[in-house]
Amino acid sequence: MELNTLKENAKEKMKGFCNLCKVCDGVWCAGKVPGMGGTGSASSFKRNYTKLKEINLILKTIHNAKDPILKTTIWGKEIDFPVLGAPITGTKFNMGGGVTEEEYCEDVILGCLEAGTIGMIGDTGDPTCFEFGLKAIKKANGYGVAIIKPRSNEEIIKRIRMAEEAGAIAVGVDLDGAGLVTMKLFGQPVGPKSISELKELVSSTKLPFIAKGIMCVEDALACAEAGVDTIVVSNHGGRVLDYCQSSCEVLEDIVKAVGDKLTILADGSVREGVDILKYLALGAKGVLVGRPLIWGSIGGRKEGVTTIVNTLKNQLVQAMILTGCEDVNSVSNKIIIR
Ligand SMILES: Cc1cc2nc3c(=O)[nH]c(=O)nc-3n(C[C@H](O)[C@H](O)[C@H](O)COP(=O)(O)O)c2cc1C
Repeated sequence: MELNTLKENAKEKMKGFCNLCKVCDGVWCAGKVPGMGGTGSASSFKRNYTKLKEINLILKTIHNAKDPILKTTIWGKEIDFPVLGAPITGTKFNMGGGVTEEEYCEDVILGCLEAGTIGMIGDTGDPTCFEFGLKAIKKANGYGVAIIKPRSNEEIIKRIRMAEEAGAIAVGVDLDGAGLVTMKLFGQPVGPKSISELKELVSSTKLPFIAKGIMCVEDALACAEAGVDTIVVSNHGGRVLDYCQSSCEVLEDIVKAVGDKLTILADGSVREGVDILKYLALGAKGVLVGRPLIWGSIGGRKEGVTTIVNTLKNQLVQAMILTGCEDVNSVSNKIIIR
């Protein structure tokens, strides 16, 4: 499927929710949460975009990186390139209903699998969202990751068992969902976790445990102490706290503090290959991509998701060739202009 065709389809079906702007900078959709935007003034979404764009790369063409290596290994699985599908829920209230929750989960999990990588499913106040996600993971023979809202530990562990039963590769919690009022409205309260509560979650499963939404060194150190396997440096696409930093601003310090203990992923405003390369240069093992997968699913279903992911992959190859990066596993901050 052509990228432009899928974007036109998505734009038509997402009227009022997403304008598929030429630059996805959080301006048009500011305040649309529920919806596709950033919360409040959308300062955090806009900052993800602007701070990432402010990073510049050194163009370099005399080197041996003719055929860059993109493969890497995460949670014991080899993936074709270091881009994972972010957990996303709420097709009706966030995206305008262009696809059902069941269709969306299948598109992302199977579309990512087809592109040689791994998709994640999310959790929200409507319990059927998580169930549809698990159904998709089962259909992909377990090739997916389940991210659960920071509910009570008892409720999280219940859902970890469900994810294990579906054969998921890893499980985790989006800790940055700790203040979501919508969850309370559904009668399903969420909140922050203490280190001992995190330890209880980590030791409740043999699967790798992911903490998503880590934005400061203190929290990263707490995750290391609790035995977390992977953190995702993320501000939830700017959807939870207005006026917070962008992930690319805090990533390097977090990598310095816990890079030798934890696997570190990052997300926020990944829209093209150079964005991925910038996060890798700042020390991330890989990135998650969010909103573009929604365009893929609504505009072209599973095939659309695969097209989005493969386009990013091809752009990453170009960016690596033009910066002299031979291997995604050894990209360094030397390619960034300071
Ligand atoms: C509509 C929408 C719904 C989301 N739902 C979830 C969710 O249920 N769980 C979660 O951990 N993150 C959720 N996220 C955040 C994404 O996983 C990811 O962190 C973010 O979208 C990355 O930024 P990007 O969209 O700029 O790529 C959601 C994001 C959007 C845009």
